[in-house]
Amino acid sequence: MLGSPGSSSYTSTSTSQEPLFLSESSRELRELQQKTIPVVLIEGDGIGKEVSAATVQVINHALSLSSDNAEIRWEKALAGKEALTQTGELLPVETIESFLRHGAGLKGPLETPVGGGFRSVNVALRKLLDLYANVRPVRSFEGLENPLRTADQFRLVIIRENTEDVYAGLEFEAGSPEAIRLAEFLDLKGKGLDENSALGIKPISERASRRIVAKGIEYALANGLNRITLVHKGNIMKATEGAFRDWGYDEAKQILGDRFLPWKEFHLGGKTIADGKILVQDRIADAMFQDLILAPQNHQVLVTMNLNGDYLSDAAAACVGGLGLAPGLNEGDKIRLAEAVHGTAPDIAGKGIANPSALLLSGVLLLRALELPDSAKRIELALEENFSRGEVTGDLAYRHKNPHVLSTQAFADSLCQRIDKS
Ligand code: NAI
Repeated sequence: MLGSPGSSSYTSTSTSQEPLFLSESSRELRELQQKTIPVVLIEGDGIGKEVSAATVQVINHALSLSSDNAEIRWEKALAGKEALTQTGELLPVETIESFLRHGAGLKGPLETPVGGGFRSVNVALRKLLDLYANVRPVRSFEGLENPLRTADQFRLVIIRENTEDVYAGLEFEAGSPEAIRLAEFLDLKGKGLDENSALGIKPISERASRRIVAKGIEYALANGLNRITLVHKGNIMKATEGAFRDWGYDEAKQILGDRFLPWKEFHLGGKTIADGKILVQDRIADAMFQDLILAPQNHQVLVTMNLNGDYLSDAAAACVGGLGLAPGLNEGDKIRLAEAVHGTAPDIAGKGIANPSALLLSGVLLLRALELPDSAKRIELALEENFSRGEVTGDLAYRHKNPHVLSTQAFADSLCQRIDKS
């Protein structure tokens, strides 16, 4: 309630010289104007609970001090092993409904127990919610030594298609009636297929290819970037990955118009990108792995299909020191779900030593997407400062000259203290 001379806040006793009703009312007015944003929270399995708790603590703290004037109402939901234990289902319908209602989520890593009815609950969630783009920025941090020299200035983003490719789950075991029928139907034996082969289908559609490339362009334009690379293996998989490249170029040309700068022109034009132009190039996937190590500075936004994107994001994370620092945001047209690249880390679960930075950086991506830039910036600065001073969790200790190793909880507390001073 907004304070007024008759309200209880006005009549409360105070020794302050300040006219109480003014300070109280302005505070309450601010609170009234404050946005409350519901965000679905799936804590996750393994280290999930530990890193989620740390992430929520730091995000809440940053929001409370920021000029974003918002708070998050965390709507807990279940998925994965914990959901199976508590409800008998890996992905309860209430969880999906909660996402559809609120449109934003933060999720710890999930384990998919064998026999739970899904190949991967993560893949199922992305497909059911049509979270077709997986945005995975990878960057190095000052103070943390990198395994690679060039990683000192490593900063790129991988935009991975999330719904198609060999991850679509269209696989048939060797000797299964489906595999036999499919082989007969397509006369695969006549095309050299071995007896008793397992078969998998790799769907790559024009619609999904175009929309992921459009997402990559949107990201580049929103973040002032001017290099887009379509990554594919179209030299071998011509009908699928080759088509992705062709649709991708076409989509880029249509969206960018005069701003489209093709690779050839860039090469002939002294390798410069004129103001306003966006270089659109492509790389064969294996060459891209080489570029990650030798010339990451030639790339800013990598757009690619599901499997390439999965491999590339772990490789890129390795270039800056591993999975502990690799965040991600799954995006559809209506729903966003932040999740780190890493898994449940069963080897360290429950020990209180997991690094929450990847999930926290995923949260930072979500905060930006929710237009809460001040809290996002405060968290990023706190992380940068912690890393440069060697305040790290155990997984990063070997990368600092003089590390001060902290538990997950102590790391979160130290970030909050830095945010207090920011
Ligand atoms: P993982 O990422 O869980 O662990 C690989 C290595 O990195 C382990 O040595 C682990 O201790 C370390 N590590 C990972 N995250 C860390 C962190 N935050 N702090 C410190 N060290 C960390 O990969 P793994 O072992 O292949 O998978 C384990 C489980 O996670 C599997 O059940 C898998 O299906 C699931 N998974 C779930 C994902 C998700 O929910 N998005 C993604 C990847 C795997």
